[in-house]
Amino acid sequence: MPKLLLQDRTVVVTGAVRGLGAAIAKACAHHGATVILTDLLADEVAATAESLGANASAQVHDVADPASWQQLETHLRATIGRPDALVNNAGIVRGASLAEATLADLRRTLDVNVGGTFLGIKTYLQLHEECGAASPGSIVNIASVRGLIGGARSVTHSASKFGVRGFDKGGSGRTRASRHPRQRNLSRADRERHEHRQPTIRDDGLGFLCP
Ligand SMILES: NC(=O)c1ccc[n+]([C@@H]2O[C@H](COP(=O)([O-])OP(=O)(O)OC[C@H]3O[C@@H](n4cnc5c(N)ncnc54)[C@H](O)[C@@H]3O)[C@@H](O)[C@H]2O)c1
Repeated sequence: MPKLLLQDRTVVVTGAVRGLGAAIAKACAHHGATVILTDLLADEVAATAESLGANASAQVHDVADPASWQQLETHLRATIGRPDALVNNAGIVRGASLAEATLADLRRTLDVNVGGTFLGIKTYLQLHEECGAASPGSIVNIASVRGLIGGARSVTHSASKFGVRGFDKGGSGRTRASRHPRQRNLSRADRERHEHRQPTIRDDGLGFLCP
């Protein structure tokens, strides 16, 4: 496995008990990062962090709840300051067509997937402003192919993931686009595809990537 530049870095991963979040947390720990796993599932997040060794710790955290982000922010400020990276991974899928989906489904999905990402970015920026850091920071927002081409059986999820990509495309203000010089020769469709893969880098070095 190629070595990642994570030795001695600090990484916060939301929704880190199951699926992709657990795999990201494990990979970061494997490559030498200090990892803070967060999740709604209190017992499981503690057990998952413990299984990753001494450089992993757990925080019970609901990404849809601003008060829960406040608590995490307070914890981070008192311990590591601004983490080197935040992975906004926690997300939910309600599999339903437009005919089946309810307004409650939509609201909950937007609260977790879009609201959770938004609050994560805001928290990170707050810590970045306050604590600064010698190294550039990174925010990775986990979207989905459903945020690119939609999905007839998961319309609320698709709507939320198009929303998540909007944060990356809009950056956080004060951004400069990270463009490849040859991009000028690309068709609009190719350029959009290319931009999809490019991080948006702020003037102060914070990177936004929405894979
Ligand atoms: N699995 C896929 O094929 C796939 C494909 C594209 C995108 N994604 C995205 O990747 C991310 C992870 O997906 P997954 O399939 O691993 O999901 P999963 O359901 O396996 O795991 C999600 C994790 O997030 C946690 N979680 C849920 N709501 C939360 C909340 N409000 N606050 C904190 N934690 C919460 C859950 O407890 C769980 O540990 C999601 O954003 C999803 O949309 C997944």
